Amino acid sequence: MSAQIIDGKAFAASLRTRIAEHVTRLKADHGLTPGLAVVIVGEDPASQVYVRNKGKQTREAGMHSVEHALPAETSESDLLALIDQLNSDPAIHGILVQLPLPDHLNEDLVINAIDPAKDVDGFHISNVGLLGTGQKSMVPCTPLGCVMLLKDHYGSLEGLNAVVVGRSNIVGKPMAQLLLGQSCTVTIAHSRTKDLPKLLGEADIVVAAVGRPEMIPGDWIKPGATIIDVGINRIPKEDGKTRLVGDVDFASAQSRAGAITPVPGGVGPMTIACLLANTVTACCRTHGLAEPDGLTA
Ligand code: GUN
Repeated sequence: MSAQIIDGKAFAASLRTRIAEHVTRLKADHGLTPGLAVVIVGEDPASQVYVRNKGKQTREAGMHSVEHALPAETSESDLLALIDQLNSDPAIHGILVQLPLPDHLNEDLVINAIDPAKDVDGFHISNVGLLGTGQKSMVPCTPLGCVMLLKDHYGSLEGLNAVVVGRSNIVGKPMAQLLLGQSCTVTIAHSRTKDLPKLLGEADIVVAAVGRPEMIPGDWIKPGATIIDVGINRIPKEDGKTRLVGDVDFASAQSRAGAITPVPGGVGPMTIACLLANTVTACCRTHGLAEPDGLTA
């Protein structure tokens, strides 16, 4: 058996098309252009690539895009002052501060300074609490993308056994909350979990978000399971170049799973598409407009 490939790249492209259509309608019917501000501090090359892509895709969707690139030595008070200014700017509906921040900046303090209504990352403690209690919130982009792919694949996730491998605030924890919200039976596994192969052997859904290249071999997976691989790990090749791999060993998992997301081309493209979706959602909520269908979990 060879698993069905879940094509996140194609799903993300169709989601971006729907977003662009909503943006066109918001402009025509209400004179509104959703605006996203991305703040990056320092010169981490990987973060710079992500931020450039975010700006490009925001503009391609017809939205207003602002980027603030600050030097690595920016003080906390200067960063907080910028966030204040963006919080009160009516042209900005979404604010994203690219993580990680340099060590001298307190990430929790900075994230919690963002107006929760503009927190398109869903990292503000208010949004974390709202998600955890099943209330309407801004939902973190990567888990939102994963749940969209899963709902598209299954229709209903009710009653399925889901194991989330990884307990980060960005992916693992919100992912578990979203799956609970879809009535899955959810287990969160992590580096201290005692018998991961046993847990995975009973999982209908595996979401792998640990950041360890090819850590999960195919023979740990229940035959027919659905594998959502959030890992994006760059590993060296023999010719001195690098290649991207996930947290799951794709070759062995493919012959056992029922469906699997590839790396690249699976979850990765969904993250920025969901950021755009969250910005449109934030714009609609701020202006008391009906939220478009299909952009939230
Ligand atoms: N760094 C890695 N992933 C993310 C993300 O989803 N949001 C932000 N703000 N920073 C990140």
